[in-house]
Amino acid sequence: MRGADDEPDGATAAGFRLLDGYLARPAQAALVADVRAVVAAAPLYRPAMPRTGKPFSVRMTNCGPLGWVADKVGGYRYQETHPVTGKPWPAMPAALLDIWHAVTGAAFPPEACLVNWYEADARMGLHRDQDEAATGVPVVSISLGDDARFRLGGPARKGPTRSFVLHSGDVVVLGGESRHFHHGVDRLYPGTSTLLDGPGRVNLTLRRVTVP
Ligand code: SIN
Ligand code: FE2
Repeated sequence: MRGADDEPDGATAAGFRLLDGYLARPAQAALVADVRAVVAAAPLYRPAMPRTGKPFSVRMTNCGPLGWVADKVGGYRYQETHPVTGKPWPAMPAALLDIWHAVTGAAFPPEACLVNWYEADARMGLHRDQDEAATGVPVVSISLGDDARFRLGGPARKGPTRSFVLHSGDVVVLGGESRHFHHGVDRLYPGTSTLLDGPGRVNLTLRRVTVP
C-alpha cells in the first residue's frame, strides 16, 4: 500500500515522527498476544460521543493505571477503572513500556495505553488528543494488523491535512508542536496484513496523563 503520498518519512520540523517498520514481525506478534491478554481482562466496549451519544466505530479498552473513556454524559476523560466491569485496568505490558522509553527518551512511564480495535469499516474522525494535563509529553501510537490511511492536520481544525498509510509495526510519535495537531484514520485496507486472524487493525496509543 505504498503510494506517492506516503509521506512523511522520519522526522518533521513540527516534531512528528513516523518510525516506519519500527517493530519486526516477532515483536508485533508478541504485542498481539499481550493485547489479547489485556482484552481478556478488560473487554473491548464501544464508547459514545459526548452530548450526541453517537457510538464510535472503533471498540476500545485500556491498560495501565489510567484509561481514556468517553460517554454521552461524562464526556472524554481518564479513569482508573473499566466503565463496564468496574475493575482496574490491567497492567501495561513490559514491551509497551520499553517502546515508550526507547522512542521518547523519557525516564518516566506512560500512564495510559488506549487500545483501539478497528473492524474493516471502522474509522476515526479528525481530533486532537487534549485530555491530558501533561501537554508537553509526546503521544506514541503503534499500528498492528491491516494498513490504515492516517490523516495529519495542524493545530487548527480547518487547516490543510495530508495523509499516508500506516503499516503493521509502524510507530508514530506526536511530539513537539505535533502533539497538538489534528489527526484521524480515514479508512482501513482490509486484508493487507496477515498478523491478525482476520481483517482489522489494532492501534495502541501510549500517553502520559499527569504532569511528570
Ligand atoms: C487515535 O488517534 O486515537 C488513533 C490513531 C490510529 O488509530 O492510528
Ligand atoms: Fe488521537
